[in-house]
Amino acid sequence: MINREWHLLSRPVGWPKPEDFALVEAPVPTPGEGQVLVRNKYLSVDPYMRGRMSDAKSYIAPFELGKAMQGGAVGEVVESNAEGIAVGDHVLHFLGWREYAAVDARHAVKVDPQAAPLSAYLGVLGMTGLTAYAGLLRTASFKEGDAVFVSGAAGAVGSQVGQIARLKGASRVIGSAGSDEKVKLLVDEYGFDAAFNYKNGPVAEQLREAAPDGIDVYFDNVGGDHLEAAIGSLNEGGRIAVCGMISVYNNTRPAPGPKNLARLIQTRGRIEGFLVGDHYDLQPQFVQEVGPWVASGALKYRETVVEGIENNLEAFLGVLRGDNVGKMVVKL
Ligand SMILES: NC(=O)c1ccc[n+]([C@@H]2O[C@H](COP(=O)([O-])OP(=O)(O)OC[C@H]3O[C@@H](n4cnc5c(N)ncnc54)[C@H](OP(=O)(O)O)[C@@H]3O)[C@@H](O)[C@H]2O)c1
Repeated sequence: MINREWHLLSRPVGWPKPEDFALVEAPVPTPGEGQVLVRNKYLSVDPYMRGRMSDAKSYIAPFELGKAMQGGAVGEVVESNAEGIAVGDHVLHFLGWREYAAVDARHAVKVDPQAAPLSAYLGVLGMTGLTAYAGLLRTASFKEGDAVFVSGAAGAVGSQVGQIARLKGASRVIGSAGSDEKVKLLVDEYGFDAAFNYKNGPVAEQLREAAPDGIDVYFDNVGGDHLEAAIGSLNEGGRIAVCGMISVYNNTRPAPGPKNLARLIQTRGRIEGFLVGDHYDLQPQFVQEVGPWVASGALKYRETVVEGIENNLEAFLGVLRGDNVGKMVVKL
């Protein structure tokens, strides 16, 4: 049987190009002792994967050239040499970008397709959901009454940040996104108090208009002029959680830093980066609190589903371009 998998051929400089990648045919792997063979059903594509395509030193190893790339995936076990995982079980694991994967049982987490749609374990109830929860509640020390601004607000992480803030009693929730349709979705469906399209004018001006009394928390998914605008609107004691800076991921030269960092002195502001991987202790609490909101519809989510392993790369590039609303996943 043939397995199709995406390999990285060369390290992209600037925007990744199709010729940096190849969809390669390989034999379906044979699971060893303690492993299961998984037929992947949903693959995750995430902005952080751009970082793994470069060989700069980071918190996670670069993708190896000429080998299958990796990423979140959920699939069905079709062969098992591992105790506790049976054929027919569904598991979440980290060997995406391919149709079949031989996965060590200790790196596979069983998920229940009756409890939630399989794709939700990659998004709203998975890594991006926990990122929103941990970044807002722990890193940004959110408290009731805070005015919260989130960028990338129509994306997987951002849409959840804004809604968790609203459900936990934010005084005002403001979001920015890259199209008028996304802005409408934020206000009409997700219950944001105000939102703006960052492509329609200077971010600082639009933010001041949307948050005339300033902001207490900024959840940064974008960096660049968004971060500078947020520092400019920060209230005394404000907190900025740096989750991502997607506006610089394809830069070939270092992006200029915010010009107004000195405002952190007068506001006693705090700016702190975080990685979701350091916050998995919150996973049970996250599922317990957010699971019922998702089930009842109090917290709404969208997914952009692209079909077919052959479209895995386009789906990834689509996330960098902003083609997605909510979590981008690939359905096999
Ligand atoms: N720290 C962590 O542990 C962690 C974990 C997960 C994710 N992240 C980060 O969180 C952020 C969101 O990730 P996600 O998975 O939820 O992705 P996402 O928001 O679903 O998708 C990325 C979005 O970024 C926006 N974007 C692209 N280029 C932009 C630019 N130049 N300026 C402003 N917005 C731009 C696009 O939407 P528009 O149409 O609005 O432009 C796109 O839809 C990313 O920065 C990611 O790296 C960090």
